[in-house]
This record gives sequence, C-alpha cells and structure tokens, in this order.
Amino acid sequence: MRDALLDRCRQGQISPQIALAQMVIGGVMPDGEVLARLARHELPDSPVRALADLATTHRDQLRVLQDVAASGIDPVGDDPVAATAALYDRLVAVAPEAAVAFYSLGDPTLLDRATAELVSVIRSWATVPGADVLDLGCGIGRVTLALADEANSVLGLDVSAGMVAEAARRGAGHTNVRFAVGNGRDLAGVGDASIDLLIAADSFPYVVGAGLAGAYVAEAARVLRPAGVMLVFNWSYRGDVAADVAEARALAEAHGLTLDRAGERPFRIWDGTGFRLNRASA
Ligand SMILES: C[S@@+](CC[C@H](N)C(=O)[O-])C[C@H]1O[C@@H](n2cnc3c(N)ncnc32)[C@H](O)[C@@H]1O
Repeated sequence: MRDALLDRCRQGQISPQIALAQMVIGGVMPDGEVLARLARHELPDSPVRALADLATTHRDQLRVLQDVAASGIDPVGDDPVAATAALYDRLVAVAPEAAVAFYSLGDPTLLDRATAELVSVIRSWATVPGADVLDLGCGIGRVTLALADEANSVLGLDVSAGMVAEAARRGAGHTNVRFAVGNGRDLAGVGDASIDLLIAADSFPYVVGAGLAGAYVAEAARVLRPAGVMLVFNWSYRGDVAADVAEARALAEAHGLTLDRAGERPFRIWDGTGFRLNRASA
C-alpha cells in the first residue's frame, strides 16, 4: 500500500499531504530510515521528496495522527447520526484541524492552504457575494468563516456540539455568521427558499452513510431560493465515483434540481470530488 501511494504521489495523481494522510490511516507510515532514503534518492523538486520533507518537519503531529487513526476515525454504533456526532466530538477535542481535513496533518498553515483552494473552487462554481450561505457539516467553521466577508450571511450547521463550540469560538466577532447544532437528519429550522448557496464540504459522505442522502437533497430543494446552488465536495466514501454521480443525478432529478457538475476533481492539494446541483430560476 505504501509503495502504491508513493507511486501515485510521484506521478502527481495525489498530493504529498494526501499520500501521507493515507499512509497514517492505513498504518503504513515510513520510518525515519525510509524517509531519509527517499529524501536522498528523489530529485529535489519531486513530490515524493516533498512528502519526505513534510513527514520529517511534521514528525510530532504525525505521531498524534497515528494515535487518532488507531483510536478509530469512522462512526461506530447502531445510530449512524449519533455515532457521527460522538466521533467528531472526540476528534475535535484532540486535533481540530486534522478532524476536518486529515491531510492538513494537524497543521493550521497547511489547513489554511487547503481551505484557500477549496474556497477558490466554491467562488468559481457559485456566486458568493451577497449570498445567504448554509455550510452543512461546518466542522470548526473554516469554510463558513472564509466566506463571511463576501456573503450576506453564513449559517454553519453541524451535528457535533463539540465542533459547533469550536467554530463559534473561532468565529467570535463575525456579526453575519451563526453556528448551530443540527439534528443530523434534516435542515429543520432553516426556512423555505432562504438560502442561495448550500455547501457540504466532506460532510455528505456521513449523510450517505446514514442513508439520508435523499432526505438531504429534498431538504436542499426546500431551502434553496430559485437559482440557488448546492455544492457537495465528496459525495460518499464508497470509492466509486460513477456510483456517486449516478446517485447524485437520480436524487437531483427526483427533487427538481439539475446536476451540471459531477465527480470532477478540481483540487491540487485535496483529492475531493465536486458536485453542483441547481435549483431553476423562478
Ligand atoms: C470531515 S468534517 C468536514 C468539516 C467541514 N465541512 C470542513 O470541510 O472543514 C465532517 C463534518 O460533517 C459533520 N456532519 C456529518 N454528518 C452531518 C449531518 N448529518 N449534519 C450536520 N453535520 C454533519 C461532522 O460532525 C463533521 O464536523
């Protein structure tokens, strides 16, 4: 597995951060000797050399992430929504940056770079200035807060009370931003036709895992204004983009939305896929 990840990184198919994160999750982190060999044998500007350098400079953070991975990073329990909330309550207390993007390696600077990349795609796929935005599964609020200056309002909703508390702490002082704990099953409390842009950044896989994709697309159709847009980054974690695209298309059609971007990988750092569902203009 480690060699396959190194090859994909070498060929530019995944970033050094993603390769490292997957090594940590898979329990195949190279030891110091292997890293030193990689640093010696790879060309100075090669991605694998960058990976070796990152692993060396982030040795302490990677140890923390190895413990986090060993303690489990999937929701476990009979009720998937409660299990997701419990998982993220636990993760945010230990490693807030890694909890929302494991490939940040727990480094706020790497997370900021990844957020800038994500926000630039959001800006090119939707209109942010003046919009009322709903950030579904907002985590620590990195996307919510990055959009606050341009948007009219941003509501960050998350099923994890721990995440919402952390997001509220980071967002103190933003008058057009609100964070709330959601019930994890629908968008209760969000008004009909009140949102211009709904974003689900790496939260929809949990919705899909809980069997709630249809319920949430129906809710998106309810809360979006005419010409409103729903952006989903990562539809599921099933590792089958064609199946994700088929499900997104079927659910969009079932709820009167159109899907015009599906399964693209628009990022350099992150390996997330993007989907855009649109409500028709009035
Ligand atoms: C990987 S984190 C991503 C957080 C954030 N979107 C970001 O990109 O920084 C996934 C988040 O989705 C939240 N989540 C999962 N299912 C949810 C649901 N049904 N309703 C609200 N939040 C949910 C989790 O609690 C977690 O904070």
